[in-house]
Amino acid sequence: MTDTPSTPLTLPQLRVLTGADVLRQVEGNRATCVDVVRRAYVTHAAGRSVNPESAFLRFPHKPNSRIISLPAYLGGEFEVAGIKWIASFPDNPARGIPRASAVLLLNDTESGYPIAAMESSVISASRTAASAVLGAEALVGGRRVERIGLVGAGLIGGHVWKFLRDLNWQFGGFRIFDLDRAHAERFAQTLKADGVQDVEVVEEAAGAFTDCDLVILTTVAGEPHLTDPALLAHAPVVLHLSLRDLAPELILGAQNFTDDIDHAVRERTSLHLAEQLVGHRDFVHGTIADLLAGTVSRDPERAAVFSPFGLGVLDLAVGKWVHDAVLAADGGQQVPDFYGEAVR
Ligand SMILES: NC(=O)c1ccc[n+]([C@@H]2O[C@H](COP(=O)([O-])OP(=O)(O)OC[C@H]3O[C@@H](n4cnc5c(N)ncnc54)[C@H](O)[C@@H]3O)[C@@H](O)[C@H]2O)c1
Repeated sequence: MTDTPSTPLTLPQLRVLTGADVLRQVEGNRATCVDVVRRAYVTHAAGRSVNPESAFLRFPHKPNSRIISLPAYLGGEFEVAGIKWIASFPDNPARGIPRASAVLLLNDTESGYPIAAMESSVISASRTAASAVLGAEALVGGRRVERIGLVGAGLIGGHVWKFLRDLNWQFGGFRIFDLDRAHAERFAQTLKADGVQDVEVVEEAAGAFTDCDLVILTTVAGEPHLTDPALLAHAPVVLHLSLRDLAPELILGAQNFTDDIDHAVRERTSLHLAEQLVGHRDFVHGTIADLLAGTVSRDPERAAVFSPFGLGVLDLAVGKWVHDAVLAADGGQQVPDFYGEAVR
């Protein structure tokens, strides 16, 4: 960030980007999106970021719902600040609309002015899925597995699938479990329409682990529901995106990786429950940046669990990538005079 107080600044303009604007940029460019997320992790690990703890707003009369704010600054090649404001209302799907809704504000780091207001459920889901496949590749050591299992066949699971598909992952079959069988069936239809062979909806979560060497957890469980250590006995790679599915005992028996240890070991995540059980965090082996740098590696004899908390810096990185591309094409909608008089 530069500090040149004597240089006059032009009043920044605010641009509004819709979900469709965002999706157009992500579709067809998912490999680039993964690379953006990789570079954001590297920049964050190099200390060129400020990523305060997310704040969780909860409601006494609606305990399953929350709105989270994720302010952040990401320097290096990105040089952007901003905040994601993302709501999770799990009762929404039963009432016909998606669970999560979000906006992302990008701030110019010269003047502090917000320069973009972006629909952010797509950015959020994309950066989450991108970080998942990045973690999967680092832990699997390539893009080929025997069979993939999915527990929780909702929106995030769908985005993870699109990233696996677009990055040409090779696999022999897919097992899907969801508490709501209709969700699992719908997901299976999507996979089949994409040409996947050997797709099965299974009756229990365990069926999405058996013979699956890559398991994706994308439920909305608030408390651990996967408690049998036998689930991990065959040493799969587990993408624990929903963060609260695995009982602490399973966490303690596995090799654990996350995005940022201080962020992830809190808010009653499975990592946090494990810490409360044993009184330390030595069971967290490293971060994805450590894996990418090769300073930690996977032990193939044990299950590897990747539990990324989801950092605001990732939203900024993907948001800026999308914003710059949309701006270059003069897309989105500029809001004239949003900031009113230039001189106040
Ligand atoms: N780590 C991150 O960076 C990050 C980012 C975004 C979202 N998430 C998490 O991803 C999860 C999924 O989000 P989504 O938008 O896909 O939600 P969603 O509501 O669209 O889908 C969740 C699915 O899980 C199913 N489900 C709920 N409990 C289950 C259980 N115990 N076993 C099996 N299936 C179950 C539901 O029926 C539903 O189909 C949420 O927990 C969300 O917080 C994580």
